[in-house]
Amino acid sequence: MQQQERLLKVLVIGDLGVGKTSIIKRYVNQVFSQHYRATIGVDFALKVLSWDNKSVLRLQLWDIAGQERYGNMTRVYYREAVGALVVFDMTRLSTFQAVLKWKGDLDSKVAQSNGKPVPAVLLANKCDQRPNGLCPKLPKLENFSRDYGFVGWFETSAKDNTNIDAAITCLVKNIMSVE
Ligand code: GTP
Ligand code: MG
Repeated sequence: MQQQERLLKVLVIGDLGVGKTSIIKRYVNQVFSQHYRATIGVDFALKVLSWDNKSVLRLQLWDIAGQERYGNMTRVYYREAVGALVVFDMTRLSTFQAVLKWKGDLDSKVAQSNGKPVPAVLLANKCDQRPNGLCPKLPKLENFSRDYGFVGWFETSAKDNTNIDAAITCLVKNIMSVE
């Protein structure tokens, strides 16, 4: 049987230094670096997934710089995206507070053809730093993610490779069930 190829444009958004680039590097190249170099503008990565016996997915990951929340390019970057990972750093409250700003920016600039929001998964990254985490200060992420229209949420670590695959698989499943 002929396999069908599909290109999926997926956004990775969230504040400065939350670990977006690290999550993508871990997922695509199986590497992690402690060294921080801020993304400028946008970066891209591609992961080819053999999804089921009918389809091969070309996952195009758009790594949007955290700085871009203050710029005016996100409308251009978001165009034709079919899903998003919204990332915060579980050791920094300000990055959690920014989650709804990113989600609002996303939903105001891109939607499915039926007008519904594109699927988005919430990632509480750096869970290897749990002792420095915000757990007591955070609302229950289960309720929070449901209330604000995320299709799922995960505690992740790009450093320890925790739940990165699971989070992206959850997003892709939701994207593939859209049509
Ligand atoms: P911008 O490009 O500025 O928007 O940042 P970013 O979200 O791409 O963050 P980046 O991936 O560059 O990571 C920022 C810093 O956090 C780096 O020093 C990473 O090594 C570190 N980091 C990323 N993910 C993790 C993680 O899961 N655990 C720990 N301990 N550190 C992490
Ligand atoms: Mg980056």
